[in-house]
This record gives sequence, structure tokens and C-alpha cells, in this order.
Amino acid sequence: MYTTKISGIGKYLPELEVSNDDLSKFMDTSDEWIQERTGIVTRRYGNKHKETTTTMGTRAAEIAIERAGINKEDIDFIIFATLSPDYYFPGCGVLLQRELGITKTEIGALDIRNQCTGFVYGLTVADQFIKSGMYKNILLVGAEMHSMGLDFTTEGRGVTVIFGDGAGAVVLQRNEEGKEGILTSNLHSDGTHAEELAMINPGSHGGYHLGKEKFGYPDQEFGGIFLTQKMMDDGLIYPNMTGQLVFKTAIQKFPESIMENLNAAGLNTSDIKMLIPHQANLRISQFVQRILKLRDDQVYNNIQKYGNTTAASIPIALCEAWEGGLIEEGDLVCLAAFGSGFTWGSVLLRW
Ligand code: UT7
Repeated sequence: MYTTKISGIGKYLPELEVSNDDLSKFMDTSDEWIQERTGIVTRRYGNKHKETTTTMGTRAAEIAIERAGINKEDIDFIIFATLSPDYYFPGCGVLLQRELGITKTEIGALDIRNQCTGFVYGLTVADQFIKSGMYKNILLVGAEMHSMGLDFTTEGRGVTVIFGDGAGAVVLQRNEEGKEGILTSNLHSDGTHAEELAMINPGSHGGYHLGKEKFGYPDQEFGGIFLTQKMMDDGLIYPNMTGQLVFKTAIQKFPESIMENLNAAGLNTSDIKMLIPHQANLRISQFVQRILKLRDDQVYNNIQKYGNTTAASIPIALCEAWEGGLIEEGDLVCLAAFGSGFTWGSVLLRW
């Protein structure tokens, strides 16, 4: 039986660094509040009109492909995870294919819309394709250009200060011998709280159910189209989040999913060389670390520099940890995520 190993990894962070003080020029917030509640010091923003989610993903992918020692034409499937795509449709997968200059059409491109868990979902889907023998080289990309879709007024501060832009990518390859690769993974979802961390417009709901209950709008004001002037006038085009509910649920589900994987593999927390949690909030990672009784050197955090980059956060952190020599051949690595949906899950792999 084949296993799936990460044979190349890359990341791309846009140049523009935005501090907490920079944000406090647009909204009523402070460096002290942001650092205390989230641990974030700076985040990066893409260069508007010159960079997009796809172009950032492409830069990360080029590095991953080079490090994997393959040619772009060897890629036989693309998976792209993002919540901030260039277009409503088509997805970023085909745009990335074009940007990379992959002209062969025997390739498939799949877009994943699982927000913060997009990378973990993508990895698990890719693992099944590789294990089944269908594909040999899968390119998985997580990328976000959040800065194009955030509310930079005080009303949006609870969400806006958290997010940053960036991209990460891995090449996943069929491993025919050796022990490296994905050992176990689990994926979970609970739609009960779908609107507690959501951006509902533009969308096809037309005010039905969501609009009425959440915003008290009569149906006709949605006009029967995806996006209306009134939605824009009322600022209903930004993400909303019930922060405390997300926080409380996250610190419960992260450890549950990680333990589920460890139990399935017959391993325990002391076997983990590095836990790479989705960089949602430094305080969440610290809770998870405490609950699982992990040492500081077993958990990697870089949200302080980059903010929460959603689908990109795990590959960026994994890449940085590997580049820093913190992950070596044979190490047990755990990737875990929780976010909008709610969805959560984790992957256990031998590097
Ligand atoms: O990857 C996606 C998943 N998302 C997450 O994991 C986020 C999880 N949740 C969180 O990280 C936290 O809930 C937040 C960091 C988003 C918010 O922290 P909190 O401690 O839960 O704050 P809160 O929402 O309860 O707000 C406390 C106060 C409120 O003021 P009042 O009503 O007490 O006067 C907010 O209006 O802080 C205020 N506030 C801010 N103040 C300054 C909210 N955002 C800000 C801000 N700057 N940026």
C-alpha cells in the first residue's frame, strides 16, 4: 500500500507589513488589546491590483515544486484551498494551473471551501487519491488575500485585526517504500453554527432564513440577486464572527481531534515532535498546548508575525518550521485546524 509524503514545501508572504498601530489609524483598537487577546504583532497585506490569492499561491507552489525536484508538468492534480478567491467562479485551481504554465489537460483542479480547515481537508483528500493509486504528484495550495475583504472601520475591528495575507504549498507524492508520510487523519463538521463565523454575501440565500433571522430583513430587500446596493450600504459584505463561541469550541475540538489521531495510530502526545496548529489565535494554541501537556518546543506558532492566514496558515508555519531545522526526517508532525462551518480535523504524519 502506498503512503502520501510531502516531498516539497514552499511559502509566500507579501512584503507589506502592517502593525497593530497602523490599524489603530483606521479603527478604535490598540496594540495592547490585539497583543493581549490574540498575540498578533504584525500581519502582511498583499499588493492590491498587483497580487491576488492565485498569484501568491503560485509563488509558494513554484518553490514547493522546485524543492520536490519535479517539473510542473509532473503535477497530475491541483487542490486549492481558500476563502478569498480571485473570482466567485471559476476557482483558483484553474487560475493557478494557468499561472504556472501547465498546459496539459490530463490534470484535474479542485477548489476547497473549508476556510481555516481547508489545508487539512485538502491534505486528507489528496491522501485518498494517492493511496488509491489514481494520482502520483498532487499540488496542494492554501492561499488568502483577506485584506481585500475586511471592514477597516471600528465596526469590523473584532474580525479585521486578526487576519493577514499569505500562501503556502506542498507537493504530495506517492511513497512506495519507507515509513514517511501521512499516518492518520480525521475530519469533522457541525453545521449548527454555520453563521457564527461567516460571510453570507454575495450569496444565493436571497434573504431566506439567514437574512431574516440574522439581520431582520424582509425578503424583497435582497432583490433576488447575489449582491445588492443595500447590502453594500449596510456593510453586509464582510465576515462576521461570534468570537467567544469560536474560541470556546476551538479549544475543545483541537485536542479532541489530535487525540483521536494519536489513539488511532497507537501513539501519544510525547511522541509528537511538532504540532502545527492552524494559527487562529495565539491564545487558542496556548490553551491547546496546556490541555495536551505539550512542551513549548513541541508547538509551532508564527501568528505573531503573520496574523491568521486561514487556509494558508498551516503550510506557511510548517514550511517555516522545516526551513528553521525544527522538523527532520522521521519526526512525527501533527497538523490540526478548527474554523468556520464549524469544521475541524487533524493529520498525523511522519516527516
Ligand atoms: O481562524 C478563524 C477562527 N477564528 C478564531 O479562532 C477567533 C476566535 N476568537 C477569538 O480569537 C477572540 O474571541 C477575539 C480575539 C476575536 C476577540 O476577543 P474576545 O476576548 O473574545 O473579545 P470580545 O469579542 O468578547 O470583545 C471584548 C471587548 C468588546 O468591547 P465591550 O463590548 O466589552 O465594550 C469588543 O467590542 O473588546 C472589544 N473589541 C475590541 N477592542 C479593541 C473587539 N475587537 C476589538 C479590537 N480592539 N480589535
